[in-house]
Amino acid sequence: MATQQAPPRGTVRIEAPDNNRKDNYWVAPTAILVTFAVFVIYSTIRAFMGKYFSTYYDGHSFPWMAANLQGANAIRPHYWSPFYSPYIPGYLPFLKGLKIATWPISAALYVMVFPLAFRASCYYCRKTYYRAVFRDPEACAVKEKFARINYTGEAKLPARVVNFHRYTFYAAVILVLFHWYHLYNAFFYSQGGQTHIGIGLGTVIFLIDTLALTAYTFSCHSWRHLVGGVVNRYSRAKGRFKVWSGVSKLNEYHGQFFWFSLVTVLIADLYVFLVSSGRITDIRFF
Ligand code: FES
Repeated sequence: MATQQAPPRGTVRIEAPDNNRKDNYWVAPTAILVTFAVFVIYSTIRAFMGKYFSTYYDGHSFPWMAANLQGANAIRPHYWSPFYSPYIPGYLPFLKGLKIATWPISAALYVMVFPLAFRASCYYCRKTYYRAVFRDPEACAVKEKFARINYTGEAKLPARVVNFHRYTFYAAVILVLFHWYHLYNAFFYSQGGQTHIGIGLGTVIFLIDTLALTAYTFSCHSWRHLVGGVVNRYSRAKGRFKVWSGVSKLNEYHGQFFWFSLVTVLIADLYVFLVSSGRITDIRFF
């Protein structure tokens, strides 16, 4: 009689039957997989496009800008796609003399690596792609699809690399600041050489997106550890305890913030693309 091999150390083997679940447990991982696929395809296309990321000039000449944004009396809302923010060739003019600014590649590729690293290493996101993409396993009480992977936590390479998440948090904070800067700008538009205050549909979209990204970033587990970790006695650090309690409340909704901010950032970029390419006209409220 064949003897059964013990599972590798640190792993748990679920014995037959392969699947103890009778409910539609596969719906959530499948929906997540489809959403991820849509986002990855869309953001890759937009990142390589290299144009239609702004509806105003801001000191730069964009030849691709829609004709209806270029006339003397045209209303040019001050929208800037979050996928292209910060716009490194524009914010750091001295880079123009360096090779980075003369590469024939999209400006989004300079910066998208940071939000990508932040999200891909997010504790919540790891759970979703371990389940939805690697099926390792898809849900509780379901056998792993690819048992040979022998998941051992994040103690070994390559999974260990996601533990750099705490460092990507700092980059995310900078991106959040840029979101707020672009939101501030979105309350203005140019017309006839003058700048005016006003609100358009893009302003509302930017407001929702900025709040969503801020909530997602500051509900991060790394931030929670930064404000409340390594404290022996909270009775001697009452201020930190208060902040930590607030962040802990936000942290309960971290998964929801993850999805919501993923969708809002896509909508914000899509709206800028549609307006700047002339496919739609910005809806102005005043
Ligand atoms: Fe999700 Fe940090 S844990 S962003």
